[in-house]
Parts: sequence; C-alpha cells; structure tokens
Amino acid sequence: MASLGVAGTALAQTPGAQPDAPPASTPDQLRRMKWWHEAKFGMFIHFGLYSQHARHEWAMEDEAIPIPEYQKLAPVFNPAPGSQRQWAKLAKAAGMKYMVMTTKHHEGFCNFDTKLTNYNAVKQGPKRDLVREYVDAARAEGLRVGFYYSLMDWHHPDGAKCATDEAARRRFVDYTHGLIRELLTNYGKIDVLWYDVSWPLKADGWESEKMNKMVFSLQPDIIVNNRNGLLGDFSTPEQHITAEKGGRAWESCMTLNDSWGFQRADDNWKSSKTIVRNLITCAHDGGNYLLNIGPQPDGGIPPETIRVLSEVGRWMDTNGHTIYASDICLPRRSNYASFTRTGNTLFMHVHFWPGEDVSIAGLMVKAKSAKLLKTGQSVTFTQDEFRLHLTGLPMDAPDTPVTTIAIECDGEPTQDTDFVRKNRLRPSVNI
Ligand code: GLC
Repeated sequence: MASLGVAGTALAQTPGAQPDAPPASTPDQLRRMKWWHEAKFGMFIHFGLYSQHARHEWAMEDEAIPIPEYQKLAPVFNPAPGSQRQWAKLAKAAGMKYMVMTTKHHEGFCNFDTKLTNYNAVKQGPKRDLVREYVDAARAEGLRVGFYYSLMDWHHPDGAKCATDEAARRRFVDYTHGLIRELLTNYGKIDVLWYDVSWPLKADGWESEKMNKMVFSLQPDIIVNNRNGLLGDFSTPEQHITAEKGGRAWESCMTLNDSWGFQRADDNWKSSKTIVRNLITCAHDGGNYLLNIGPQPDGGIPPETIRVLSEVGRWMDTNGHTIYASDICLPRRSNYASFTRTGNTLFMHVHFWPGEDVSIAGLMVKAKSAKLLKTGQSVTFTQDEFRLHLTGLPMDAPDTPVTTIAIECDGEPTQDTDFVRKNRLRPSVNI
C-alpha cells in the first residue's frame, strides 16, 4: 500500500486513470474523511483586521496601504466577547456541520496566541485569543473545527523576499512551520487545515512535504486541502462548483455576497434559494459546500447573512437528510428540479414549482412510492418507459425555497433522456 499518512505524497494512482487525472482517495483518506463526506455543508469565516477596515480582505494590497498605516487597525481591533458563539449557533442552525476560520489571512495578523510574533490578537487589540474562543464555540455546538491559514503574508519582512533570498526563505519557512505547529499543538483536536495562497514559493520552497508530515504527526486524523502546493486530501474549487473526477474529494468554497472579509457596502447577497440549490449541486456530485460569512468589526453577523442562513436552516430541518451522507447521483435533467440520492431513493428538489403535476423524463428504474417531504403526504404517480408523472400535487409549492419529493425506486436511479428522444412514440398524424 502507498504511504497513507502524508496527504499529497505517494498517493496511489487509480489503475487505468488518465495520467494527469488526480488520484482517487486512498483508504486512509476515506477513513479520515468519512465525517467530512457525511457533513457536506460547512461555514467559512473570514475575520481579521480587514473586517474592521470593512473594504474586503484584499484592501491592504489592492489599495497599497502602507504597513505602518494598516497596522493601526491592530490596537483598536476589539470584537465583542461571545461573537464566535453567535457564529457557531448560526452555523448549527443553518445545518452546517463544521467551521473553518481564518487564523491568519494574507494581512499577516494572527488571531491566535503565538510566541513567534507580536502581531497577534493576544498582544494587541482584543488581548484575547480569538482562535481559542472560536474553537470553544464550535465545540460547544458540536461542530468540527477547521483552521484556515494563509501562507502568503503581506506583513512579514521576509514574506516576499523569501523568493529571492535563501536566508529570508529559511527564516520565513521556519516562521510558517512554527505558526502551524503552534496552531496544531495548542487547541486540541483540529479537524481540517485549510491552507491558502502559496505565493511566492512552490511546494519545495515551503518544504510542504515536511509541513504536511508535521501536521499529520501532530493531528493524525486531520484532513488538509491542496493549497500548499501538494494535492492534500481534497481540491478547493473557489466561487464555482466543479466536481473532481475519479473519486477525488472536493469542496467548493463560496462567498454569500461578493466578499470574503466584511465589506460594508457589498449588498450582493445570494438568496437562500441559490444557496440551497448550490448545496444540492455539490451533494449531487459528491462534493462539499463551504459557505462564507464575513463578520462585522465587532464580531456581529451582518443581518442579511443571518436572514439567508436561517432560511437555509429551516429548509435543512426538513430536508437535511437528503444532503448529508447522500450518494453520488446520476439523474440530472430537468428545467425546474435537481436531484440527490441515498441508496435507491431519489430526491427530486423542485426549485421552480410548476403546479399540480411534475415529471421526470427517462427514469430507468421503477418508482415504488413517492412522498412530499415537507408534509409527508404521499404522491400518486403513473410511469411508463418514458415518463414518471407525479400528480395531485398542490398548486403552490409546499416548501420554500425548494420542495423535495422523495421517490423510492426499485434500483439505483439512472436517467436516459436520449432514450426518450429516440424512442418516444410518434404516432402518424397529419403535419
Ligand atoms: C482567495 C483569496 C482569499 C480568500 C480565499 C478563500 O485565495 O485570496 O482572500 O481567503 O480565496 O478561498
């Protein structure tokens, strides 16, 4: 068996796979990632000095703010104690099963206690360990705990020089490995390490193999992403939903508006319908959905975020089981519904409710029963080789923002709409 401890190294290539296709998950990855695959839905939290600046987390670079000017945000950063409890409660209410918080973003400020820099939340601003508060809050709600960590650092004196100066690289890599070591030593069991932006080095410059080895020696059950230059355990499509091929794990990360960090004027909120549909799309193809919130400077959650996630949570109360632990699903064709599956049960998620009847074309298995999840009402239907026709439904959508019909089938549901196109009965009529 290939070496299984260190994600990104010596992963077995699936026999017969394309040479450039990513490797399928190894047995050890499947073991460590079981909870994560069953969780499907997580909360990403971008919180740092940039939250206070309130112009998106890239403002320091995009506005070329000089470090002495930007640093002035540190002593006055003062999120209210208990903020993280609100984030965790909202995540739980939304049906999310894990959280991933920025411990250090590109700005370089550490939200945690560290011996390696004074640019941290315990020495400055709140004088509290915001990561500790976050970890405690997530655990209090029974949620898994993830740490985001940006390798790129706009503040550290060696953060750019490390690309061209070996002594600087040595110092900066030691600093980086040291911070990661502290994070994975001081907070108990951590479930996810979410690296970000590896500029300006590559995996060998970062000593990423060694980095992951250290990570797994400190946290044998952790999972890591692919942004330190190695494949890690899962891929991270950003702001789009694209499934990985060949059984490789993936998680789509996405903003709720257009900014990760708080941006006071960004009002481009996605609707709860969009979020639920995105979650269904991820689950359909076996992926996870990591949805971001950008708390305000005081740690409060923007009201629109609360509204949208609460609506999502109400939907998850009835429909969550069609997402968690769902299997990869083959049927996909409909202009008003999308699908997930567990075993032989197909969940038809109708997002544009057409009225008293709905249909699925080309379903290649027999439906045995159907019911509306919201009301538990059983649904009558007829089926021939071309169409499953569900009838007697209410004129108005019984659930919001998406109504789910559970259809129990006599085998794993598959769909072939080509079959319908080619073989449908075409009685001779005068045309
Ligand atoms: C990008 C951005 C960053 C954000 C991240 C989340 O890499 O640089 O601001 O944290 O995406 O995936």
